[in-house]
Amino acid sequence: MIVRVFAFIWCANLLSLLLFSMVTYFLDLTLPEDFRHKAEMAILTDELTLVYKNNGADAARALWQQIADAHPKYALTAETTCSKNSIFGTPEDGCFQLIYSGSTDDTMAILRPATMPMLLGAVVSAVMAIFLSQWLTRPIRDVSRGLKAIAAGHLDTRILGRLRTSNREMQDLGKDFDVAAERLQALSEGRNRLFHDISHEIRSPLARLRAAVGLIEVNPGRGASLAGRMEGDIARLDHLVNEILTLARLERGETMGEVQRIDLLDLVENIIADANFEGRTRDVSVRYEGANTLELRGNPELLHRACENVIRNALSHSPQGGTVCVTGRLAGDALILEVADSGPGVPEADLKNIFMPFVRVDEESPSQGIGLGLAIAYSALHSHGGTITARNREPHGLLLSIMLPADLETARPEA
Ligand SMILES: Nc1ncnc2c1ncn2[C@@H]1O[C@H](COP(=O)(O)OP(=O)(O)O)[C@@H](O)[C@H]1O
Ligand SMILES: [Mg+2]
Repeated sequence: MIVRVFAFIWCANLLSLLLFSMVTYFLDLTLPEDFRHKAEMAILTDELTLVYKNNGADAARALWQQIADAHPKYALTAETTCSKNSIFGTPEDGCFQLIYSGSTDDTMAILRPATMPMLLGAVVSAVMAIFLSQWLTRPIRDVSRGLKAIAAGHLDTRILGRLRTSNREMQDLGKDFDVAAERLQALSEGRNRLFHDISHEIRSPLARLRAAVGLIEVNPGRGASLAGRMEGDIARLDHLVNEILTLARLERGETMGEVQRIDLLDLVENIIADANFEGRTRDVSVRYEGANTLELRGNPELLHRACENVIRNALSHSPQGGTVCVTGRLAGDALILEVADSGPGVPEADLKNIFMPFVRVDEESPSQGIGLGLAIAYSALHSHGGTITARNREPHGLLLSIMLPADLETARPEA
């Protein structure tokens, strides 16, 4: 930057000098008439005074007649008084004065040599200064325009491509701006989607409840038969509200509650026992392999929720007679818990999306969930400084991999 500014100022000076040289070459900048005539007048007056003194008035007049043709703009006049400085002679023999009859009002001619360089310098540097300030402030104006667009709600605004500068710091600022704008846009879109999904999820059970109430009003005798279905919808609404509140609490980054040293394997074994009980109807079994203890510090309730969601998903997506395999191991300071099933898996493009709220890849799937389980698991594990990732298995099935730091204090949850 500094080199460019220096080069710019140096070029401005060079240009001024160049223009001035050109002007002096094409214009007459010799001494103006006024200066020349004053010098000429002094010489002629001295010469005539000398001749007047030595040879008298006639000799002076004769001399003037000889040289008058060479000085057409001068006239020798006889004066009655001899008081002024420029008048020579004596009252007895006559007084004379040399008069200049040319124009002395050549202002431009007088000003030109003195002011021309200044004028040129001022004009050139003003023009260059305008360019320089425009050039220096251009990227700042681009950023400011981008900020105004964001403030006006155009969250898809990106400025890096439109930033008219090659300055590295400004380019970095442009990149940071785009990252921030992208994050804002994602947050805003996520929030809008969440509102839409929540209202959508609430609307269906509410509509069913309203229909049931309508039916009971028309035919009160059906109340008993509809009560079970209504209870199911109320339970579903209750569950939905609970899940939303849990997710909101986790995403707000609220404290995890009670943190204690626990053996994750105890939690997992309980969940596996329940899952095996549930899986009997479809002949699906869940088994554990790996380390005999998975000790860590954390919130047992949150970790239970996260593991239960993942194992239940594996169970509900497993085919008839399938097996869900849960493995646990220690890797350095971290615990790894993997849950593998032999279900249909998830399309590659959706592997990351399944951790977002209300995302259900296959709406027709046997899971009757609302799509919040993995989002809650993700946030719960994240608040423990852990991660959860998904990948498909060969030939089919899904593998969910949970990583948790053994010691919560050393864990650094990513922003
Ligand atoms: N083990 C799995 N096999 C195949 N798809 C899965 C599995 N686990 C999760 N998914 C997909 O991810 C979506 C989100 O899961 P989740 O957040 O637990 O919501 P849900 O309430 O539907 O269980 C599910 O609807 C399903 O499409
Ligand atoms: Mg689920």
